[in-house]
Amino acid sequence: MNELTKKYDLMVPRYTSYPTAPHFNESVKSDLYRQWLEALDPATPLSLYFHIPFCDEMCSFCGCYTKIVKRYDPIADYLEVLLDEIDLVAKALPTRFKASNLHWGGGSPTMLKGPDWKRIIDRLRIRFDVTDDAAIAVELDPRTSTKEYIKALHTAGVNRASIGVQSFDADIQKAINRIQPYEMTAKVIGWLRNYGIDHINMDLMYGLPNQTTEMVKREAELAIGLKPARVALFGYAHVPWMKSHQKLLDEDALPDAGERWQQFEASSAKFVEAGYQAVGLDHFSLPDDEMSDALNKGTLHRNFQGYTADNAPVMIGFGVSAIGHMHQGYIQNISPLRQYRESIAAGDFPIERGLELSKDDRLRGYIIERIMCDLSVDLSAVCKKFTIPKATFYPEIEKLKPLSEDGIIKLLNNTITVTEIGRPFVRLVAAAFDAYLDSGKGRHSRAV
Ligand SMILES: C[S@@+](CC[C@H](N)C(=O)[O-])C[C@H]1O[C@@H](n2cnc3c(N)ncnc32)[C@H](O)[C@@H]1O
Repeated sequence: MNELTKKYDLMVPRYTSYPTAPHFNESVKSDLYRQWLEALDPATPLSLYFHIPFCDEMCSFCGCYTKIVKRYDPIADYLEVLLDEIDLVAKALPTRFKASNLHWGGGSPTMLKGPDWKRIIDRLRIRFDVTDDAAIAVELDPRTSTKEYIKALHTAGVNRASIGVQSFDADIQKAINRIQPYEMTAKVIGWLRNYGIDHINMDLMYGLPNQTTEMVKREAELAIGLKPARVALFGYAHVPWMKSHQKLLDEDALPDAGERWQQFEASSAKFVEAGYQAVGLDHFSLPDDEMSDALNKGTLHRNFQGYTADNAPVMIGFGVSAIGHMHQGYIQNISPLRQYRESIAAGDFPIERGLELSKDDRLRGYIIERIMCDLSVDLSAVCKKFTIPKATFYPEIEKLKPLSEDGIIKLLNNTITVTEIGRPFVRLVAAAFDAYLDSGKGRHSRAV
């Protein structure tokens, strides 16, 4: 296996979309987005994503879009603009749409003050028909969460929390500038459960500098003891050319590809032994969680938040850098706060770029999503579904032959199945269908 991790230590996308974000272009702007919104079928349930780009400290591993703020004023100002953006989008829609999924990501959405949660969710309930069973999920930083704060989230209607842990090890926490003792995480989870926010996801990481296999095993045991319904086990993505604060981490102490693989395997084995189901590339879920259900039914999806059981066909993104997707394509908001604010004040959608999907994009996007989610795809069925000739994918099958010879996939009757040892390489299998890969745009993190 070590041989394979060395041989396939390549840089490939994580495929949270296809085409991936570096291929978005400037042809999608405010006017086109307005047309797409106006044309939306009123029966379509919506998923809404909100980006809150603030943290009070920078974790040195962080690869997300965020700003460090020490005062509340910029956050309070941002909230006003976000409320205006909600109004702007809702007014462009042909009716008051059902919203079945609300997700707050960051940054740290829990930088918002407790009463502001109620304000924003109240506004959403005016503008959208938030369904009674809607999933209302927040990425939560335990370091800034008090009991009163969690009560405020509950009062506002939040019913899911994604908890950032990363590592339970005190030395690693020091190295990544994120001091969060185990007891703190356990206490916050207890409060969440007391207030009925019992859909708990936990984010863990492997591949951090000086992290060892023994450590990740212990971390998995501690996580299991807290019984999260879902775990995301992210391989640290070292991209200092994009995130210069990552240069603070000791590059020489980063585990190599073989060690990363061992860490993933060791942690994964712990979760599977404890009864979790392995989901796709890097998630684990308890059998009674919706994610396991979606996996077993073949209805699991992949979006910018990772794996999701959310099957709303349209996602509208709000806030700086937020990405949405509609039938016609992807839309991404601008990142600079000032431009975002000015655009909304002028009544324009703050779109920076996007991508109008071609027939080929949809076809390849479908295949890539099924590989990433089901670890398997029946190309004959795909050709039938998209009414295209069976020979369409002969070049891709040719490309995959070395992976088949190395036991990463099985190729049988036009069906590709990623084997258990191939799971960590699933991005490489998906990459065989990526028509943009060789265009040279975008540098990615390691495949394993
Ligand atoms: C936007 S962060 C939200 C976490 C929240 N701000 C907190 O502090 O708890 C979402 C998750 O992305 C993951 N993440 C961030 N940077 C990463 C990187 N460079 N490589 C891999 N995963 C990363 C972390 O697991 C993190 O919990």
